[in-house]
Amino acid sequence: MRFDILTLFPEIVKGPLGESIINKAVSEKIIEINVVNIRDFTDDKHKTADDRPFGGGPGMVMKPEPVFKAIESCKTSESKIIIMSPAGGQLTQEKAKEFVKSSKHFILVCGHYEGIDHRINEIYNPELVSIGPYVLTNGAIAAAVFVDVISRLKPGVLGNSDSLLDETHETDETEYPQYTRPRSFKGFDVPEVLLSGNHEEIEKWKNKNRRKFSTEDVNEHNKCD
Ligand code: ADE
Repeated sequence: MRFDILTLFPEIVKGPLGESIINKAVSEKIIEINVVNIRDFTDDKHKTADDRPFGGGPGMVMKPEPVFKAIESCKTSESKIIIMSPAGGQLTQEKAKEFVKSSKHFILVCGHYEGIDHRINEIYNPELVSIGPYVLTNGAIAAAVFVDVISRLKPGVLGNSDSLLDETHETDETEYPQYTRPRSFKGFDVPEVLLSGNHEEIEKWKNKNRRKFSTEDVNEHNKCD
């Protein structure tokens, strides 16, 4: 699986994707991440990537030529072109699974300023993807989230494939609470049953302490039965 991330701010994506599980998956060649600086595809001496909008309005718009050239530099007939945008369809766990099944090469175009010249949409008919109902300062943050969410579904990226199944959003239930040493901390003790070695009882406890996922439930869930 390959991701080409096209952005004016390469360092924003390199940070979160250069650590931990994703970095390991890249080293093991399970996934490939290529960060493309759109500014490298400008052709004036000031490397101008944005301009004022026709018709007026606030802010600046990303010029079409550098974005077009950046896309052409990595596009193949198999590529899925995505524009990270707050106006896009929301990325859910379900949607992430569909992406993993349907494509092996993602080109993620990251908007900045007021957005990207609309002719990029007209030329490529890309899918617009939002990572949530809020507006970020930069699509590169959204692209890093997209790569993380999709990559962890790829077999081999997570060490233990069980951890994919037993998880919040995967089962539509919250996970049960987890504890490690010390047994007592600030007056709060690890539930006795988890120390008992009785696997049947432990399993029962875990099932009892999962809750159906809803935002309101999350805080309640801090209390174990
Ligand atoms: N760019 C700005 N906000 C965004 C969001 N919520 N999702 C994807 N891209 C964005």
